[in-house]
Amino acid sequence: MRSLIDIQELSVEEIDNLIDTANDIIDNPQKYSQKCKGKKLATLFFEPSTRTRLSFEAAMYDLGGNVLGFSEAQSSSSAKGESVSDTVRTVGYYADIIAMRHPKEGAPMVASMSTDIPIINAGDGGHNHPTQTLTDLLTIKREKGRFDNLTIGFCGDLKFGRTVHSLIGAMSRYKNIKMILISPDELKVPDYIKQTVLEKNNIEYYETNSLESVMPDLDILYMTRVQRERFFNEQDYIRLKDSYVLTPEKLIDAKDDLSIMHPLPRVNEISVAVDKDKRACYFKQVKNGKFIRMALIMMLLGVE
Ligand code: CP
Repeated sequence: MRSLIDIQELSVEEIDNLIDTANDIIDNPQKYSQKCKGKKLATLFFEPSTRTRLSFEAAMYDLGGNVLGFSEAQSSSSAKGESVSDTVRTVGYYADIIAMRHPKEGAPMVASMSTDIPIINAGDGGHNHPTQTLTDLLTIKREKGRFDNLTIGFCGDLKFGRTVHSLIGAMSRYKNIKMILISPDELKVPDYIKQTVLEKNNIEYYETNSLESVMPDLDILYMTRVQRERFFNEQDYIRLKDSYVLTPEKLIDAKDDLSIMHPLPRVNEISVAVDKDKRACYFKQVKNGKFIRMALIMMLLGVE
């Protein structure tokens, strides 16, 4: 059985197919309403979530399947000291597919070695978040109509932001992509990603502290929250949390067809006044998340 732990496990063609399926689901939801009848999705969330968990659950219900699981570690036997491997092996006897979020990087990979059913990484620590990336790719395709020839600005916490790490990996496979990495010095993209993804794929990129100076160049602005839960020191979080706050004034020099994205949740980094801007796409991302997860569940379950 195939799992999805890292977005790079999907080929460009497979991503295109998932996007085509998601678009067809959006246009013809009834066609898919019984595709997973009799199948069960388990959502094992050892970390908080609103969008990922509930969109997975809504996705399975909209495919005619059922859902079981837990939304916090404390309500599972991991609170008694059970290992991830034993938890997943157990759930593998009750469900057909698992979506799992865990604060430890690599936990979904370990889980995938403990059961025969597919494991979907729904976010592991500050590492990866491949289904958010699928959501982002569907949104980019619907907004821009292409993946090539784009300048993308990633802004905020690029060190701990797992959605950024996965999207950098996915976008590095397309042609003529330029990435501008906007962050405080303490929250830069980790060196291993620069070396093994950006430099290896000859992606043009540069790092800056200034959002305003690069705003006119951007086709996509991908804002992110400073990830409080990953900091060792609360004082550092407080010092860095408002490094970037996007307001309508800061968008004056932006392109008319800029796409403003954010995986959400937001804290303070996009002013609510920006929500009215036609270029704001972050709630479109939320909506798209369910459809691409429906496509992914069908693919991993081998449903035609
Ligand atoms: N984007 C995202 O992962 O949101 P949640 O934490 O609410 O699932």
